Formats: sequence, structure tokens, C-alpha cells
Amino acid sequence: MGDRFVPLSVPNLKGNELNYITKAVETEWVSTGGPYVDEFEKMVAGYVHSAGAVSCQNGTSGLHTSLMLLGVTPEDIVLVPTLTFIAAVNPVRYIGAEPVFMDCDDSLCMDPEKLRSYCEEECELVDDKLIDKQSGKQVKAVVVVHVFGNMADMEAIMDIADKYNLKVLEDATEAIGTYYTEGRYEGRYAGTIGHMGVYSFNGNKIITTGGGGMIVSMDESLLKRAKHLTTQAKSDEVFYTHDEIGYNYRMTNLQAAMGIAQMEQLEGFIETKTDNYNRYVDKLRDVAGVSLYKVRQGIRSNYWFYGLDVEKVCMNLREMITYLHSQGVQSRPIWGLIHQQKPYEGSRAYKIVKAVEYQSKTINIPCSTKLTYEDIDYVIEAIKRYIDEHR
Ligand SMILES: Cc1ncc(COP(=O)(O)O)c(C=O)c1O
Repeated sequence: MGDRFVPLSVPNLKGNELNYITKAVETEWVSTGGPYVDEFEKMVAGYVHSAGAVSCQNGTSGLHTSLMLLGVTPEDIVLVPTLTFIAAVNPVRYIGAEPVFMDCDDSLCMDPEKLRSYCEEECELVDDKLIDKQSGKQVKAVVVVHVFGNMADMEAIMDIADKYNLKVLEDATEAIGTYYTEGRYEGRYAGTIGHMGVYSFNGNKIITTGGGGMIVSMDESLLKRAKHLTTQAKSDEVFYTHDEIGYNYRMTNLQAAMGIAQMEQLEGFIETKTDNYNRYVDKLRDVAGVSLYKVRQGIRSNYWFYGLDVEKVCMNLREMITYLHSQGVQSRPIWGLIHQQKPYEGSRAYKIVKAVEYQSKTINIPCSTKLTYEDIDYVIEAIKRYIDEHR
């Protein structure tokens, strides 16, 4: 291995981050109050055209808050994907509700056809409530993840949700900036189509606040409740009265300062990621047996992560990932399927087929916005060497 190391996905903090954080420190507004928090929320809401936005500590806390606000209780079922990061599912369990795992389609996002057949075959509508016949529980909500910055088939999913009275929580943690360019939802951003949506600003995301999240919705009353619940449900500022159990889920002014600087660069980051994706696609044409997954037709993706199909060249993902690492290229497999993880053993999973297939043949390759063309060519050379040496 030479001196070069191409990381998978690292932050890009070359804008006004230090400038704004310094201002926050100088003014000593470093905690959960302060002007940057409001400004960041307004900036995100303006960008995705939502009714508002409520910042929180991370995507996970945003998902937890949203599920509570959508009325999920310990007696309910929530439909979730299995091909995702575990943080999309854990909040269901924080509430004490039961997750039922769904398969993906070729976009890697939830398969609407299987969602529909689960509702039709496994459930019945009783007094406008969707009841799972096996458990007798109400199916209250579905968590839809826009995997790697792609978009789930929201037209089909919203139709199913309308028909069966399901609340839709969009886990758009990986997809800020992705939107429909055609169809019923033309111009609508990932996160703003369902009842609530959540973004993450974790360090590996397209924009970062170190750690952070944002809840969005078209429903102002839900956002008002979100702000209340994430700020310890304080109903009187002066006398410290609380009308329910709240959470300390608020973002700090320091994080928001960074977030504003990152938002200023988001469109530029998307341009870079799109350009780098196209370069990979172009160069990989000469490499037999591997290809990058395409994004859904009719969307502008933020191209957060690049998924590479290695089925034809690789019998063992661990071996390939280790080899690439030895060559100075960081890569990773897709997540372990959640229904197979220890805390979810024994959970119900509905006709999972494609998720297993994609999990067994996909690696993610470097996609940072700081990636140079030389880095991309270097990654491709390492992939070629792997193929040559393991033929
Ligand atoms: C699909 C998905 N859901 C939820 C999360 C949780 O976000 P956070 O790390 O900000 O809590 C992440 C990312 O980390 C994610 O990729």
C-alpha cells in the first residue's frame, strides 16, 4: 500500500464553520438556546419547503420524537425496513411498539408491492384501523428510509398509507436535498411527503453538525408539539411547569452554527457528489462485472452514498473490503439486516428476499465531497487489481 488513503465519507468543513462557531463562543451562546438554532431551523425549512423544522440532537432522537407524535403506542405495530441502519428501527422499540420488517425493491428502499400485500393479506380494516390478524394489534405507522440518498416510491407508498390509515414517517436522514423532478410530487423534497420527516447531521452525512438532526413536516401543529417534546415539555418558561414527560433532545447553538455553514454549501456538495458519481460510472464501464446502482427515475438525488454491485466479481465481501483497505481504499458492506440482529431475533419479517440479495452483493465505495478525480481513478485501479488477483 502506498501513502494514499481514500476514506469512505468524511466531513468537508472548509466554509464558514469556524467563523460561525467562533461567534457562538464569543457571544457565549453555546447551549440549547441562541440565535443560530432558530436560523438553522428556518434555513432547512426554507430549503426543503416544509411548514417548519425542529432541530434535535441527532436523527435517532428525531425519529423517536416523530413516532411518539404520530401516535405510536406500546400496543401498536410499526412497519420498518430490514435493509437499513438500526437507528431507523430502534425508536419503535424505545416506545415499546412492535416492528414488522419489510423487504426492499431495486431502489434499496421499501418495496411498496410487499407493503401492499402485507396490508391486504395479513391485516384487515376494522373501524378504519388496520389490524394485524396474527397479533390483533393495530398497524399504526410505517418508517420509510430513503436509502443512500435515493428516494423510495412515495407515490405508491402514500396511496397505500391513505388506503389503510397509516402514518408515514420518512427517515430522510441520508437524503437531505433529494427531491422529485416529475410526477405527483414534483418539487417535493425527501422528508416532506409523509406526515413527518427526519434528517441527520452525523459526521458521515452529506452535511454535518458533528451530531445533530432535524424534524420536518407540512403540519405546523406536529412541529409545535415536536419543539415542546424535545425541550423537556416545558409549558411555562418562568415557572418551570411541565405538562407531560419531555426529552432533552434539543440541538445546541454550537452545532447549529456549524449547520448553517454546511447548509450554505449543500447544493455545491450535491453537485460534487453527482459529478463524482458520474465519473465512477464512466470509468467503471471498462471494469467488467461491477456497476454502481442507479437512482430512481424522476428524482434529483443528493448522491450521498455510492452502492457498488460486486456480485459477479466477489465471492466474499469481507475479503474484498479487507483487500481494498490494504490498498488504501476504505469501503464497507451495506448494514447487517436488522431482523437478523440480536435485539430483533424472533421479530416478524414479511417475505424478505431482495434485502438478502442486495446485502450479499453490495459495497459502498468512497464518496466524500473532497474526493478528487485522482482519488476516484485510484479507487477504480484498486478494484481492478482485486478482480485480477481473485479471478
Ligand atoms: C437510515 C438511518 N436512520 C437513522 C440514522 C440515525 O441518525 P443519527 O446518527 O443522526 O442518530 C442514520 C444515520 O446515522 C441512518 O443512516
